[in-house]
Amino acid sequence: MEIKKVGVVGCGLMGSGIAQVCAQSGYQTVVSEINDDLLNKGLGMLKSNLARNVEKGKLAASEKDAILGRLKPTTKMADFAGCDLVIEVVVENMELKKKIFADLDKICPPHAILASNTSCLSVIEMAMATKKPDKVLGMHFFNPVPVMKLLELVRTIASSEETVNTVKAFGKSIDKTVIVAQDMPGFVVNRLLTPYLFDAMRMLEAGLATREDIDQGMMLGCNHPMGPLTLADFIGLDTLYFIANIMYEEFKEPRFAPPLLLKKMVAAGRLGRKSGRGFYEYK
Ligand code: CAA
Repeated sequence: MEIKKVGVVGCGLMGSGIAQVCAQSGYQTVVSEINDDLLNKGLGMLKSNLARNVEKGKLAASEKDAILGRLKPTTKMADFAGCDLVIEVVVENMELKKKIFADLDKICPPHAILASNTSCLSVIEMAMATKKPDKVLGMHFFNPVPVMKLLELVRTIASSEETVNTVKAFGKSIDKTVIVAQDMPGFVVNRLLTPYLFDAMRMLEAGLATREDIDQGMMLGCNHPMGPLTLADFIGLDTLYFIANIMYEEFKEPRFAPPLLLKKMVAAGRLGRKSGRGFYEYK
């Protein structure tokens, strides 16, 4: 099956990045939000990313216009009608996701593949909200989407080989390297990454090192682009707390349990970069 038109449900940080890379790779891309304010905010991020690439000489101004010309921003689900692939990128709420999958199943053509960008929720549960679970899988992108090379493809026990192969080829066409993970909380990357981030928080909580020393240790000692506490702020502490609870509930292993410090920071509204304060302060 050839993918020509892509849909992206949700135009926040991740959704706008996914819409950008799809349109940049030549796909007609429909991107939606629940209202004009959120849509314009997401499009603003996308446009300033493209403008920065033009300023740096990495993108011709005419190409930027062509990319924007391939984008169809909308607040109507009905506009996904002609899409061959739709990627859901809304908040991590299973009931909302199931509703979106059920709606897309009715709106999109029978051949359309439906995907979720969830970082930890069960993809098969979303698939079962449709009449074609064989055409549903996870497409987990990484922040910042235009920069990060990985696409984690999440196959459920019902995803067909054809669906998996079509999305693998699509991933390659948008310049991502695809890895395949099973449908379980955390998939491959978050299952390895989150216990490491939680250990850094526990180390800080126990007073074993300062935040700067923990971060510098991993940046300079292991060549990571960001230290674990900076990365946690970058991901969002509420997001990490949510992932921790889902993973701990599933596996019951202490390494996935949210550190008390993380719980307290979320309760205090210190969510990382997005709220202006997390382990560090942001202007
Ligand atoms: N959007 C688009 N492009 C961005 C960007 C953004 N938000 N932030 C940086 N960039 C681009 C810059 O424009 C620059 O591009 P050029 O090379 O073309 O000039 C490039 O990225 C490097 O940026 P900088 O030089 O400004 O800064 P840097 O070298 O420190 O890189 C970074 C920034 C790419 C974010 C780097 O720090 C990094 O890779 N950090 C780790 C990110 C990471 O681990 N992400 C995964 C989080 S986990 C997740 O997303 C999944 C989940 O489920 C939780």
